[in-house]
Amino acid sequence: MAEDLIIKSGTREEQYLSLLPQIKGLLEGETNLVANLANIAAAIKEQFGWLWVGFYLVNEGELVLGPFQGPVACTRIRKGRGVCGTSWAQEKTLIVPDVEKFPGHISCSSLSRSEIVVPLVKAGQIYGVLDIDSELPDQFSETDKAYLEQIVSIIP
Ligand code: SME
Repeated sequence: MAEDLIIKSGTREEQYLSLLPQIKGLLEGETNLVANLANIAAAIKEQFGWLWVGFYLVNEGELVLGPFQGPVACTRIRKGRGVCGTSWAQEKTLIVPDVEKFPGHISCSSLSRSEIVVPLVKAGQIYGVLDIDSELPDQFSETDKAYLEQIVSIIP
């Protein structure tokens, strides 16, 4: 399917409630992972306008850059390194209100101030992470965690 995304204003939750069914529609009938991750990154970036929205995928023991929207980024991240590698190692979503206070934060863009990283899980295995960066501090909350975890859970 190909159609325009409807961009919603309102509270963060209202924005996710508008976005979620549209992402479901984008994924419907498509099983190619790269195609689906590309559209999810684009849809989240269009709705929220964050600095960087994208995926890193586990490949031969490292995270390797996948589909994304935003400035060019680091291509490889080792397990336990940076916010992405730590989220992978700890197998949980990490919310970083101030990237300068996160030990080992990997600065792909000097403009990033806060970040959220959500693991992608299939059959109990982490196969990648969703990473989002904002130019503003303290941009991500439990609401983002809940909805972004829901979004990545529907990736076929
Ligand atoms: N800041 C991330 C690196 C990836 S970029 O933000 C796109 C980290 O510390 O893992």
